Amino acid sequence: MAITLTINGESHAIDADASTPLLYVLRDDLALRGAKFGCGLGQCGACTVHVDNRPVFSCLLPIAALEGRSITTLEGLLKDEKPSKVQQAFIDEQAAQCGYCIAGMVMRAEALLATSPHPSDEEIRRGMRPNLCRCGTHAAIMRAVKRAAAA
Ligand code: FES
Ligand code: FES
Repeated sequence: MAITLTINGESHAIDADASTPLLYVLRDDLALRGAKFGCGLGQCGACTVHVDNRPVFSCLLPIAALEGRSITTLEGLLKDEKPSKVQQAFIDEQAAQCGYCIAGMVMRAEALLATSPHPSDEEIRRGMRPNLCRCGTHAAIMRAVKRAAAA
């Protein structure tokens, strides 16, 4: 039986097992490949998307839990094909090395700034903590979040 998901404002009928993680549906069925598979265990944040405006690990969320909820991915942040304030700040600060973690970082930062538009350094550190960067670009990510907050 198809499960209907609302992703970036559009309805999608998904023909997949109800236990399928959202991340697999995004990447494999809908070609929304911003969210990445890192650990698959809820430990790295590479797969972060928003559900009802809150950041979640999409590798852990079965699609059965998501009918009627509003899902936003990295692709959904674009407005008129232009990057969001946070996306632009990450570009301006060149806050990526390999880039694998960055989609998740951007989603985490968007959620942080939505609830705390002018966070202190400590609030940024705490807010971004669930997301890991194996390349160690944390200083640049911090600058990007601050730049977005100031924009
Ligand atoms: S891939 Fe989801 S938390 Fe690592
Ligand atoms: S830029 Fe490589 S994992 Fe973060």
